[in-house]
Amino acid sequence: MAKNSSAFQCSECGWQAAKWAGRCPECQQWGTVVEAGTASGIVTRIRPSTVSEDRVARRITDIRTVEVERWSSGISEFDRVLGGGFVPGAAVLLSGEPGVGKSTLLLEVAARAAREGRRVLYVSAEESVGQVRLRAQRTNALTDNLYLAAETDLATVLGQVEAVSPDLLIVDSVQTVASATVDGLAGQPSQVREVASALMRLAKERDLPLVLVGHVTKDGSIAGPRVLEHLVDVVCHFEGDRHTALRFIRALKNRFGPTDEVGCFEMTGDGIAQVSDPSKLFLSRTGSVPGTCITVSMEGKRAIPVEIQALVVKTSAPNPRRVVNGVDASRVAMLLAVLERRCGTTLSDHDVYVSTVGGVRLTEPAADLAIAIAIASAASNWPIPETLAAYGEISLSGEVRPVTAAPHRASEARRLGYRKLLDSAAGSLRTALGMARSAAEPVVAPEF
Ligand SMILES: Nc1ncnc2c1ncn2[C@@H]1O[C@H](COP(=O)(O)OP(=O)(O)OP(=O)(O)O)[C@@H](O)[C@H]1O
Ligand SMILES: [Mg+2]
Repeated sequence: MAKNSSAFQCSECGWQAAKWAGRCPECQQWGTVVEAGTASGIVTRIRPSTVSEDRVARRITDIRTVEVERWSSGISEFDRVLGGGFVPGAAVLLSGEPGVGKSTLLLEVAARAAREGRRVLYVSAEESVGQVRLRAQRTNALTDNLYLAAETDLATVLGQVEAVSPDLLIVDSVQTVASATVDGLAGQPSQVREVASALMRLAKERDLPLVLVGHVTKDGSIAGPRVLEHLVDVVCHFEGDRHTALRFIRALKNRFGPTDEVGCFEMTGDGIAQVSDPSKLFLSRTGSVPGTCITVSMEGKRAIPVEIQALVVKTSAPNPRRVVNGVDASRVAMLLAVLERRCGTTLSDHDVYVSTVGGVRLTEPAADLAIAIAIASAASNWPIPETLAAYGEISLSGEVRPVTAAPHRASEARRLGYRKLLDSAAGSLRTALGMARSAAEPVVAPEF
C-alpha cells in the first residue's frame, strides 16, 4: 500500500510533510502543523444543496440598503480613524507595542461610552480587575455602566457577555484568551484564530461592536496568524515613540471607512488626551535663525508643519560625520550630493547634523527641500525668515518636483502664519535657495 506522504499540514501556509514539526519550516510559525486529516488524496464529491426561495441570489439593484448606524466612541480622534465611530457587529483590532497605551485608550473609550448610558464590558485577560480599577481611578474612568471581568477562558468570556449583555465589548488581549476546545497555549495561531472567530461570531449575532487588543511581534507586525487581520473589519495600529508622549493611531484596514486618517493623542499622568490641533507640536523656534527650516508633512489627511534643524561644523577628520535624527540618512546623503554638484555648496570637510523637532519621523520625499535649505543656511550662516515654509521633492538633477496634497499643505501653512511658501514653483533647488536667502535679507525701501 502506498504510504501517505503528507499526513501533516501547516494550517497557515499549507506546507505538507510526513512527520510532525513544532515549527513550520516554510512560514516559521510555531504550533501550526497539524494532522492533515482528510487531506489524504481522496476527493469527495460535494452535492450542491437546494437553495431555499428566500436565500436565492438576487440582482444587486433589488437589494434594499440599510444605512449603517454608527455611534461615536466619545473620542473624536478615535472616531476619525474608525471612519466616524463604532459600527454595530463590526470588529476592530487595535495593535501596538507593549506599553504604548492600548489599555489606557480603551479604558477611556469604555468610560466615555458608559457615561453616554451604554453598557460596556471590558474583559481584561492580562491584568486583574484591581489593576484595571487602579488605572481607572488614575485616569478618572470610574463609572457605573462599565463592567470589568478578568478572564482568560473563551467560554467564560462568552458567558460574561450573556450575563452582562453589553453594548460594547472590549477584549484585552486576543493573544491572552484561550479556548479549551483547541490545543495549544494562548497566543498560538490556532488559539488566536479560534478566539477571534468565536468573539466575532458573537458580535455579529448580537450586533455588538467588538474591540480586540492585539500584540505585535518584534518586527512590528501583529502577532498570531495573518488570517486575524483578514477576519476583523478594522485594523488600527497605535504607535508612538518611547521618549515622547505623542501617540498616533492609523487605520491599516477599514471596511467601513478610509484608511488615510490618523488620530493624534498625548499620554499624560491622567491618562490619554486627544490632540485635535497637532500643528504646533513640532515647532520650537522663535525668530529668524540659520539652519532651521519649516516643512509641511502629511500625516494621513492632515498637514502638519515640522521644523527641521541642521548644523554644519568644520572638521579635519577624513570621514566627516553625517548624523541624522527623524529623517532618512540616505536621503540626506543624496541632498548633500545635489547641493555640491548643482548649487556649489561643498560640505566634504564639514560634519553635518540634521534633526527634526519633537521626535517626529519624516519619511516623505516632500521634506527634501526644507532639509536642503536648512543645510545650506547652516553652512553659510544666513538666517531663514520665520515666516518661510518649504516642501518639495528634490531630484538628482537639482529640480524641485511637485508633491501630493500641495494645496492642503499650503493652506495649513498659511493658517499658522507662514507667508512665504517655497515649492515646486521655484523650479530648481538653486533658485529656491536664492529665494530663501533673499527673503532673509531685510527689505530696503526704495528711495525716490
Ligand atoms: N502612574 C502612572 N502615571 C503616569 N503614566 C503612567 C502611569 N502608569 C502607567 N503610565 C503610562 O501608561 C503606559 C502604559 O499604558 P498601557 O498599560 O495602557 O499600555 P498597553 O499598551 O496596554 O501595554 P501592554 O501591552 O503592556 O498591555 C506606560 O507606558 C506609562 O507611560
Ligand atoms: Mg495593556
